[in-house]
Amino acid sequence: MLKIASLTLKLPFILAPMAGITDLPFRMICRSYGCELAFVEMTSAKALVYENRKTEKMVATRPEDRPLGIQLLGTDVEFILRALDIIRKYEYDIIDFNAACPVTKVTSKGEGSGMMKEPRKLGLLLKTIVDHTDTPVTVKIRAGWNEKSVNAREVALYAQDAGIKGLFIHGRTREQGYSGRVDYNVIREVKEALDIPVIGSGDVFSPLHVKKMFDETGCDGVAIARGSFGNPWIFNETAEYLKSGIVPPRPDFQAVADIMADHLRLIASYHGPVTAPVVFRKLFAWYIKGFRDVKPLKERAFKAKTTEEMLELIKEFRNTSYIQKVVSVSDNLLEL
Ligand SMILES: Cc1cc2nc3c(=O)[nH]c(=O)nc-3n(C[C@H](O)[C@H](O)[C@H](O)COP(=O)(O)O)c2cc1C
Repeated sequence: MLKIASLTLKLPFILAPMAGITDLPFRMICRSYGCELAFVEMTSAKALVYENRKTEKMVATRPEDRPLGIQLLGTDVEFILRALDIIRKYEYDIIDFNAACPVTKVTSKGEGSGMMKEPRKLGLLLKTIVDHTDTPVTVKIRAGWNEKSVNAREVALYAQDAGIKGLFIHGRTREQGYSGRVDYNVIREVKEALDIPVIGSGDVFSPLHVKKMFDETGCDGVAIARGSFGNPWIFNETAEYLKSGIVPPRPDFQAVADIMADHLRLIASYHGPVTAPVVFRKLFAWYIKGFRDVKPLKERAFKAKTTEEMLELIKEFRNTSYIQKVVSVSDNLLEL
């Protein structure tokens, strides 16, 4: 169980926010495999205020897409407060604030993980957000800016004093980006310092990694990010593993083909039939990863121009009875 303010989750792992990935179709697919709490992609407060149509679409949801959090990005108080007013109508369960994004375009404006350099300022901003909304506020931070300035504990304490209800920590520095090992010690230090729930993130590619995050850090919850790529059943697998110690067998090629077809149809109805094959390409590649001799199929998927063409490739994948290369869930991903 994981409790963040009044929100109680039966299972203590969630789908992490991922820009360009966790759109409505992705969230719905993960939910159908046991994901409870999901997040809309990181959303710029300024983009929301300027009523960018793409942004409005990005933050939209539907009743089955619950519980749901949104993650805001920015440093300008005026824009952030206006963004909070705009999103009130969606009645999100959590408003998360991003102090973790490593992208230079973002950090050069002091946003995202740029905020890790200014813990006091981040604390004040979070307090302003908390005072402006009735929705529980959380923050996502990193271990620090770089290895010489690992200050997650200090940042987390400022954030907690601001009245946030939970903290997400990606145990890598901004300089590490998404590579190098996650630092479990920093996450544990933060967990030990705070009274609010701490959700650990980083290197979670299998149910075994979820357990490892709990064991190494004592955290209250785990965020699943890249481990969900082409692998939405990681949520159910993790629930089963935490209960019984057994990881269920991975779906075979037929089940994977069914999931792909469902996912593609959701994408086509959400993004439209022209954009759908472009959005689906990388997902196709992730779903078929781990099966033998699929390279030519993948290459054709990257050239597919219509949803029908993509559906044909999925059919071909099913009919060819591809065999899985990967026998163990954590195989080829990362040693524990
Ligand atoms: C493509 C991609 C997009 C991401 N976008 C966001 C984002 O919008 N907000 C955020 O807080 N983290 C974002 N992340 C970071 C993830 O939420 C997560 O913290 C990180 O990937 C570490 O977990 P992992 O090593 O298990 O993937 C993103 C990660 C990836 C790979």
